[in-house]
Amino acid sequence: MSDAPTAVIILAAGQGTRMKSARPKVLHAIGGRSLLGHVLAAARPLAARETVVVVGAGREQVAEHLAQVAPDVRTAVQEEQLGSGHATRVGVELLGQVTGTVVVLNGDAPLLTDSTLRSFVEHHAEHGDAMTILSAVVPDPTGLGRIVRSGERVTAIVEQKDATAEQAAITEINAGVYAFDGAHLQDVLASLSRENAQGEEYLTEAVTLLLERGRTVGAYVAPSYEETLGCNDRIELAARGRQLNDRLCRKWMREGVTIVDPQTTWIDADVELASDVTLLPGTHLAGATKVDEGATVGPDCTIIDCEIGAGASVVRTHAELAVVGTGASVGPFAYLRPNSRLGEGGKIGTFVETKNAAIGAQSKVPHLTYVGDATIGVDTNIGASSVFVNYDGVHKSHTTIGDHCRLGSDNMYVAPVTVGDGAYSGAGTVIRKDVPPGALAVSGGPQRNLLGWVGENRPGTASAEAAAAASEPVRDVDQKDA
Ligand code: UD1
Ligand code: MG
Repeated sequence: MSDAPTAVIILAAGQGTRMKSARPKVLHAIGGRSLLGHVLAAARPLAARETVVVVGAGREQVAEHLAQVAPDVRTAVQEEQLGSGHATRVGVELLGQVTGTVVVLNGDAPLLTDSTLRSFVEHHAEHGDAMTILSAVVPDPTGLGRIVRSGERVTAIVEQKDATAEQAAITEINAGVYAFDGAHLQDVLASLSRENAQGEEYLTEAVTLLLERGRTVGAYVAPSYEETLGCNDRIELAARGRQLNDRLCRKWMREGVTIVDPQTTWIDADVELASDVTLLPGTHLAGATKVDEGATVGPDCTIIDCEIGAGASVVRTHAELAVVGTGASVGPFAYLRPNSRLGEGGKIGTFVETKNAAIGAQSKVPHLTYVGDATIGVDTNIGASSVFVNYDGVHKSHTTIGDHCRLGSDNMYVAPVTVGDGAYSGAGTVIRKDVPPGALAVSGGPQRNLLGWVGENRPGTASAEAAAAASEPVRDVDQKDA
């Protein structure tokens, strides 16, 4: 942007009393990002030279969060929450002398888009007013500052608590987003009064003060009022979350994603989807999840920070920090924990849990199995009901299994242990020692049948009667097999 603002100041020091939370309001999240994170994301494309976040209530938590998500921004501390005007002054003081455009934003309006913000700043630059307000015409202005106009010109912003009945009926409201000429802003911030119902320094008083000094004030009406909605309690938090999700679902459907039920599909702001992805009902794609072309996810999945390959299928699964290869299949009822990696065409089936496990291309772990701390080669089959015994009570150890193995059901792989390429194992094998390539591993003694045991020891039971009906009773223990 040619006329980039000198600075963006985000007001985030308020308590958010109505959230009734130990967490500062601006750190509550929708769409996988904090409210403040959304505001920062909308402001970033303005490419302002400096961004200042004014912190106060819960400032350590907010500063810590900022260090993670936006280490380039500076924080200014507002010791006491004396109003939005006071907060802005604290931000401006950190900047020192300001010239050029200064954009001030409330930290609790997460739906504002970067495109609206950009048009707003362009409008300010074109009109040359000392202050431009982002306004919106809303169906219910309750609780918001009203834009008072005389003809086309803005003459004041009046807060709900200070409004006359006539002013309260105005439906054009202040969105809490402003562009100022820096020098004029600095000038009026020194003159804010506290003569209002809340006894606070209102930033909105800047309108009156600038007009008194013979400057002009303009307003840019937001194309959709939804974008400007703030968030003051948990009911509004849920409503903003739903609106954001609707917007994201519509965006992805326009990009060629099939979403069978947008009402029960939740997509975080940072998720990336390719075309011809299908999302079935009850699916939550969270964090930095990526889903590649033609993959199907759902129904009933929670997928956090995962990569799902092209054409893969993931059904009724909870997965975090996992990678699912091209054409692979997962679930139903699978649990993929961090650092699970399934190769191309592989399978993690029903009631299977994996953790820190690399499962090679075309390999299958189809049923009732735990794979923890393991490397499995390509085209290997792990029998049903197996456990990678990775924990000896003190240490975690690794199991390595080769390519093209056919391993039996109910196997225990007592790590650390290695199974060579092309090996087989029998059902119920406890693999404590390495298995060489091509070997068949078996463990446990031969099976013994104690003939007639039930009739002798459980006489009169249904089992004994069924056994008697099925065969001539055999009374002696079969000595040959014993
Ligand atoms: C404010 C506006 C109102 C507008 C509405 C839009 C004022 C006086 N009123 O009202 O015209 O319609 O936003 O949502 O500004 N803050 C601080 N320090 C403070 C007080 C507030 O940093 O001492 C921050 C808050 O964290 C918040 C923002 O300023 O991000 C606005 O404060 P809030 O109390 O939510 O103002 P509203 O009553 O919503
Ligand atoms: Mg507010």
